[in-house]
Amino acid sequence: MLPREENDLLTQVSQGRPMGELMRRYWIPALLSSEIPEPDCPPVRVRLLGEDLLAFRDSEGRVGLLDEHCSHRGTSLFFGRNEECGLRCIYHGWKYDICGNVLETPAEPTGSTLKNKVQHTAYPCQESAGIVWSYLGPKDKIPLLPNYEWMNLPSSHLYVTKSIQDCSWLQGLEGECDSSHLSVLHKSFTTQQQRGGGDGALYAADSSPHLEGIEMDYGVRMLSCRKADADTIYLRVSNIVLPCHGFIPTGGVRGNPEGYTIHSHVPIDDAHSMRYNIHFRRSRPIRNDERQHDDEIGVDFKKLRNLRNNYLQDREQQKRETFTGMGQTFLIHDSCATESMGPIYDRAQEHLGVSDVTVIAVRRFLLQCIRALQAGKEPPHVVRTAKANDMRHVACIATTIPSTKDPKAYVVEQLKKEKYWEVTN
Ligand code: FES
Ligand SMILES: [Fe+2]
Repeated sequence: MLPREENDLLTQVSQGRPMGELMRRYWIPALLSSEIPEPDCPPVRVRLLGEDLLAFRDSEGRVGLLDEHCSHRGTSLFFGRNEECGLRCIYHGWKYDICGNVLETPAEPTGSTLKNKVQHTAYPCQESAGIVWSYLGPKDKIPLLPNYEWMNLPSSHLYVTKSIQDCSWLQGLEGECDSSHLSVLHKSFTTQQQRGGGDGALYAADSSPHLEGIEMDYGVRMLSCRKADADTIYLRVSNIVLPCHGFIPTGGVRGNPEGYTIHSHVPIDDAHSMRYNIHFRRSRPIRNDERQHDDEIGVDFKKLRNLRNNYLQDREQQKRETFTGMGQTFLIHDSCATESMGPIYDRAQEHLGVSDVTVIAVRRFLLQCIRALQAGKEPPHVVRTAKANDMRHVACIATTIPSTKDPKAYVVEQLKKEKYWEVTN
């Protein structure tokens, strides 16, 4: 269990709250680039860390993220005109650029200097991997955008979706931490070999994996070891990466090292989050059969199966085909597990076991980061130099190894090989 005070520390994300301030030290996903596909297209509402914002792409293709409400008298800029390198409020015509400068105040007399005295809230944006990333923190502390290996792949090699989750970001993130639920929640009785990158039989072989969380410079590396047979261990290495990402080896034993999947749990506010699903393949385009969210998420980013319709659970299917009775898409299983806890779960009510040691390790790490920031220190994984922006050691692995081998030593060996790189200090 987690004391109420620590639960609040981890789940409250608005400005001025400790976790809100920690989140504001990192670049976070704000929206998909495809939501604002071309210059001067309609702006899009974005709620992020409890702030109501508006994203727009100006005439030169640059992206801005502004406070939704006009600095003059508060009309929503959502209804504004996106024209000639600025967004113009429809009430009195104040016009803003992507940096929040007021360019024009047509209702003021000629020669008015009012526009020079007003700075509209605006957050810097960068685009990578089909995502608009934004930084909502202090302007003098802007870090580099982390250079994860999937950031610069051709769009054909990436499949990025997002869905609104009706629960706290932390409930989503904690779902990335316990490898044990793979053996239960995502179990299929009919397609064990196909799901989860073909590793279904390996999850099923052992439902109580040995888990370990190791603190890293970027977050927490998590090892899970299942007995595959008398002589073999099924090892999975996943990562929680600051501030809100889970890097998961969904490629499976056969898929690895083709790629892994990233689930980002970006807070919309304390009780809602946006789950970004970033799926990539290193050396080939994504196949159509890998685009499994297309039938699950509506144009408004709400899931078609959701808490209000009980995820369209089919009790007959639950008897014969899947553990949940909710189809084969992991997103839906995970959503049911985390959203049905309620919007902000009170962790004082829980009863943790050894299958939760990685959840506990991640909470401890996040609390340490919060307290370090409160003490005036720069939090981990805030990237400031090109050298520090080598992210190859944030590697995911799914493999089988002889049970005589030490899993931790194996991971270090693998990371030293060509494709990976281990932190040596
Ligand atoms: S409220 Fe926007 S210009 Fe007046
Ligand atoms: Fe899951």
